[in-house]
Amino acid sequence: EKGGYDHFMLKEIYEQPRAIKDTYRGRLLADQGLIKMSGIDQNLEKFLNANRIIIVACGTSWHAGLVAEYIFEDLARISVEVEYASEFRYRNPVITDKDVLIAISQSGETADTLAAIKLAKEKGAFVFGVCNVVGSSIARETDAGAYTHAGPEIGVASTKAFTTQITVLTLMALKLAKEKGVFSESRFHEYLTELETIPAKVEKALLANPLVEIIADVYKDSTNCLYLGRGYNFPVALEGALKLKEISYIHAEGYPAAEMKHGPIALIDEQMPVIVIATKKGHYEKVVSNIQEIKSRKGKIIAIVTQGDEQVTELADHVIEVPETFESLTPLLTTIPLQLLSYHIAVMRGCNVDQPRNLAKSVTVE
Ligand code: F6R
Repeated sequence: EKGGYDHFMLKEIYEQPRAIKDTYRGRLLADQGLIKMSGIDQNLEKFLNANRIIIVACGTSWHAGLVAEYIFEDLARISVEVEYASEFRYRNPVITDKDVLIAISQSGETADTLAAIKLAKEKGAFVFGVCNVVGSSIARETDAGAYTHAGPEIGVASTKAFTTQITVLTLMALKLAKEKGVFSESRFHEYLTELETIPAKVEKALLANPLVEIIADVYKDSTNCLYLGRGYNFPVALEGALKLKEISYIHAEGYPAAEMKHGPIALIDEQMPVIVIATKKGHYEKVVSNIQEIKSRKGKIIAIVTQGDEQVTELADHVIEVPETFESLTPLLTTIPLQLLSYHIAVMRGCNVDQPRNLAKSVTVE
């Protein structure tokens, strides 16, 4: 059942190249220069006339929503707000029939997300679902949607659901960018071609596993851990921290790298591992100076870098390489070593990685 892996989580981490291909199937038609998504095609006017997109979700799905905010704003030039479903539903939000609400949920059963959908529908918004479980409550409650097609996710800690959610949302944003005319034909084609390379690049990112295991062994007894990223990789930092805390029970926090000097830098000493996402394109020079600040306070630096990196490699205590891709697509790659790191640390600490204490796979009560 676990396909030869020790845990479902590891199996599901390794399934990601295949899962992303399944998400693409029938949608990403690079040779025809097309992205086909019936839920968007049939409701194109709603998206094109939207004042803004409101994304609601919880947990890891909320992190996918944050990545989508960067993607939709940067590529499709549509204004996006990302909300915790539990906060959104109780604060009397301003919603009109000009709003499009996107609900993201692996299980499709999360109580707060479902309630946020009902509220938005009452106020006349068009509601679109990004779910993994086919026929789930959220899939049924939404006006239209796109499934992630990741296949069943058994491990409580979400892995392949996260990367396939980002994949669906990227396809949506690109399709809208094209329809809106903010993307030239050639830029659109470049994206389609690059998207096609992602499953193989995820496969390459997975090759870091033995190295990640060695790094895990060095830091498995830490009591705290900080994750930093900027831009597209800020939500990846949040997700990395969530993954570590939920399965290894180590206290971890994710921060936008530049926020460090507004408080968290006070925590840094020789006991503090800091995981920094420092890929070549995402404000690289600024991240380098953040790394220097950590180093001068004796923090331990584990950096996720682009293949062939030199500058960060010289500064960091450990580097994990991921293949190069467009900046907007880097979260699909930088997430991989962070999933593996949490996994190995949790296993080394003797934790039940597939069923961490106090957590349930779907949260059907608020
Ligand atoms: C984290 C995790 C949770 C879920 C959250 C939302 O690994 O699994 O944070 O992401 O409970 O669940 P869904 O996506 O099913 O709505």
